[in-house]
Amino acid sequence: MTLTASSYVAPHKLLVDEGAIDSDHYTMADFVEQDDPDLFAKARSYYAFIEDWKRKKTHFYLRRLLSACRNRVTVLDNLTDRPREMIMMGSNNYLGLSTHPKVIEAGQKALAKYGSGLCGAPHMNGLCDLVRELEVRLARLKSCEDAMVFSTGYSANVGSVSALIRSKDVALMDRWDHASIIDGCRLSGGNFRAFRHNDMGHLETLLQRCRHKFMGKLVVVDGVFSMDGDLAPLPEIVRLARLYGARVLVDDAHATGVLGSHGGGTTDHFHLEGQVDLVMGTFSKSLGCTGGFVAGNKEAVHYIRYYARSYMFSAGITPAVVATALAALQVMEEEPERRKQLWENTRYLHDNLKAMGYTVFPSPPESAILIITIGDNVKLRQMSREIHEGGVFVNAVPYPAVPLEKCCFRFSVMATHTRDDLDRTLDVMRKAGLEHGLLHAA
Ligand SMILES: Cc1ncc(COP(=O)(O)O)c(C=O)c1O
Repeated sequence: MTLTASSYVAPHKLLVDEGAIDSDHYTMADFVEQDDPDLFAKARSYYAFIEDWKRKKTHFYLRRLLSACRNRVTVLDNLTDRPREMIMMGSNNYLGLSTHPKVIEAGQKALAKYGSGLCGAPHMNGLCDLVRELEVRLARLKSCEDAMVFSTGYSANVGSVSALIRSKDVALMDRWDHASIIDGCRLSGGNFRAFRHNDMGHLETLLQRCRHKFMGKLVVVDGVFSMDGDLAPLPEIVRLARLYGARVLVDDAHATGVLGSHGGGTTDHFHLEGQVDLVMGTFSKSLGCTGGFVAGNKEAVHYIRYYARSYMFSAGITPAVVATALAALQVMEEEPERRKQLWENTRYLHDNLKAMGYTVFPSPPESAILIITIGDNVKLRQMSREIHEGGVFVNAVPYPAVPLEKCCFRFSVMATHTRDDLDRTLDVMRKAGLEHGLLHAA
C-alpha cells in the first residue's frame, strides 16, 4: 500500500496497518489518492492519521458545543472530557444575532405555524410566503430588483455560477475565492480562469485574453475574503468588467451586516449600489442562522431560479429559519450600534495584537476577520493547544485549506464580545506567542 498525494514534508513511510503514523508529518492533502484496490484504504489511513493527531492532543476541530453561540460558549473539552466555558473567537455570528430575543421569538412562532419543514423543493412543493417576504427584503438591502433564497450559502454560489456559465462562457475568479464558487465553476461544465489575489493587472490580462475567445463573461469575487479578511477592490473590478463587457458577481457572505453605512455589504461600503450585477450572501454569518441568497436584476434571478440545480433539486429552506433571518434583518436595521461595537472590538483586538508584536492581517482591519499567519502546520497545531487550554476558541486554518505558508489563526470578532473577553484573549495570545517564539519578551 502506498500513498501518492503530495506531502508538505518529505513523505515518511506510512505504517498504518501497525497503527503507527506520525501525524506531524502528514496533512489532509496526503489522503486524497491511494494506490490500493480497496476504495476505503484511504479512509483507514486517514482515520489512523486523525487518531494520532488526537493522541497528541493538538486536534481542535469539530469541538462539541453544549450551548448557544454567544461571546462565551460551553464546550465539551476534548482534552478533559468535561464541559468548560470558552471565549468564542471563531464564530461568524458577527452581530450576535443568533441569540437575540426577537430572533428566537420569531423562529418559535414560525415553527408553531409552519411546522419543521416544507419537505420538498420550492418549484414542486411550494414557496413559503415568508421566503418571498425575505427575498423582497434582501433585494432592498442590496439595492437590486429581485433576490432568491437558497437553503445554504454554499448552494447559492454553486447554483448561481453553474446556472450562468455554460460551454461558451467563462468565469474569471480570484484565486482565493470561496470553495463554493470554485465548485460552481467546476460543476458548470463551462470555462474558468483564476487571477492572482486582488491583482487587477492580472484580471485585465485575463479579460483581454478571453474577450474574443468566449461569449458571456462573469467576474466572481468574495467581497470579503473569508481566509484573509481583506476586501476585493470592487470599484476597479466593476470598471474593468464594464470595459470588457463582463458581468460581476460578488459574494458578500462576510460583508453583509458588517460593512456599509446600513450593513448592506461591499456595494454599500464602496457606494456601488445598483452597479454590481449579482450579489450573493449567506444567513450563516451576521444573520445568525443558515441559508443563502443571490440578488440581481429580475430576469437574471428568474433564470437562476429555474436553472440552478442546487435550487431545483433540493428541499426549500425551513420556514422557522427564514423567520429568524427576517427578524435578524429587522434587528440589524433597528440596532446599528451593534455594527459600531463590532468595529470597535475589531480595532481593539487588532491594535493590541499588533502592539504585542504579532503581524496581523489585514492591518488596519477591513472586516471582522483578523489573521495571524503561522506558516508551519506543526507549530499551528501546538499553539492551538496552548490557546485552547487558555480558554479561547479560535480557528486554526491549516494547509491544505490554505497554502502552507499561509496557515494561520483566524479570529472572528463579535459585537457581543466584552472588553474582558478581548483582554483575556490577548493574554492567552501573548503567552502562546512567547512560548512558541513568535513574540519576544520586552
Ligand atoms: C465567502 C463565503 N461564501 C460562501 C460560504 C458558504 O456559506 P454557508 O456556510 O452559509 O453555506 C461561506 C461559508 O463559510 C463563505 O465564507
